[in-house]
Amino acid sequence: LFSAVEMAPRDPILGLNEQFNADSNPKKVNLGVGVYYDDNGKLPLLQCVQAAEQQMMEKPQARGYLPIDGIAAYDAAVQALVFGAGSEPVKSKRVATVQALGGTGGLKIGADFLKKVSPDAKVLISDPSWENHRALFTQAGFTVESYPYYNAARRGIDFDGMLTALAAAPAGTIVVLHACCHNPTGYDITPAQWDQVVTAIKANKLVPFLDMAYQGFGQGIAEDGAVIGKFLASGLDFFVSTSFSKSFSLYGERVGALSVLCQNADEAARVLSQLKIMIRTNYSNPPTHGGQVVATVLNTPQLRAQWEQELAEMRQRIKLMRQAMVDKLKAAGVSRDMSFIAEQVGMFSYSGLTKPQMERLRSEFGVYGTDTGRMCVAALNSKNIDYVCQAIAKVL
Ligand code: LMR
Repeated sequence: LFSAVEMAPRDPILGLNEQFNADSNPKKVNLGVGVYYDDNGKLPLLQCVQAAEQQMMEKPQARGYLPIDGIAAYDAAVQALVFGAGSEPVKSKRVATVQALGGTGGLKIGADFLKKVSPDAKVLISDPSWENHRALFTQAGFTVESYPYYNAARRGIDFDGMLTALAAAPAGTIVVLHACCHNPTGYDITPAQWDQVVTAIKANKLVPFLDMAYQGFGQGIAEDGAVIGKFLASGLDFFVSTSFSKSFSLYGERVGALSVLCQNADEAARVLSQLKIMIRTNYSNPPTHGGQVVATVLNTPQLRAQWEQELAEMRQRIKLMRQAMVDKLKAAGVSRDMSFIAEQVGMFSYSGLTKPQMERLRSEFGVYGTDTGRMCVAALNSKNIDYVCQAIAKVL
């Protein structure tokens, strides 16, 4: 049965973790996967998460099956976060939200559902995009193409190219957009450019699918989520996948969601019933713990405030690391202008380093980033940044 099964290539992001773990270099630094580490190089366990878990331990609950669509209080908290508490679509019950296994799970439920309602549509992702977007939508049965996004020569966004591609896309095309903190480039379009994107999508009857995995890591929770308001105002149906992996530092709990904005409550109820089939036939229903933690934090004002504070601290530390990297690369003798690192937002910097340079960083220095030159600046700290910058200076 398996004699002809081929060895699949290593996952371009998570596969690096395996290589990193096997590396015996004592100075190794993992800038591969998008994970935030604190200044001591430790994965943070947020205070708000600990407080929620304490509350949960004080009233231990048996673990029955959750509803297929997850914890109701969790889904409500996601809707409030994404669309605004008491906002019109929430009040009129025209959002179908399900708890999902991380942001990836939200994308996959949405992709499987879209394959049913729109089997012949094509999917457009940004060029470049998160490595898993293409694979995930391809696995769901779609043909995946891309729209221009990053212009390497200009070190910025090819916005004209993006708009031209959207204008040329056939009606019904599914367009995957990064709501904030574009992964991998770190370049976001401006609010005014978002307006143009929304107009183009609406004019061409495209289907927007917003991937919001880094809300709060760019400018702030509200600022990073502002694009949702623009799509709401357009009157379009759209999809939003949410991840709390990074913003709650709950990577291993797989806490995310999918929200589908519909025209009315009746439509949302029917969409929800279909999303539940996608879930039931894949993993039946979601796990309890992570969803309960996030729901407790988001629905308890004092814990929510604490979360916002802790998220702001993560965001600010990343910004400090970006500036420090620019300064230290210069000090290490890099003559080319690296100031773009401080202009990019979110967890990643698209460094402009080539695949051979990234390979050399890995093999000679134990500094891991993806082959595309993406580096997770959220894993830099005051102890490893000098070493990383000197290593980069050497390969440059
Ligand atoms: C990343 O891009 O590194 C993260 O989103 C983690 C992942 O699942 O790939």
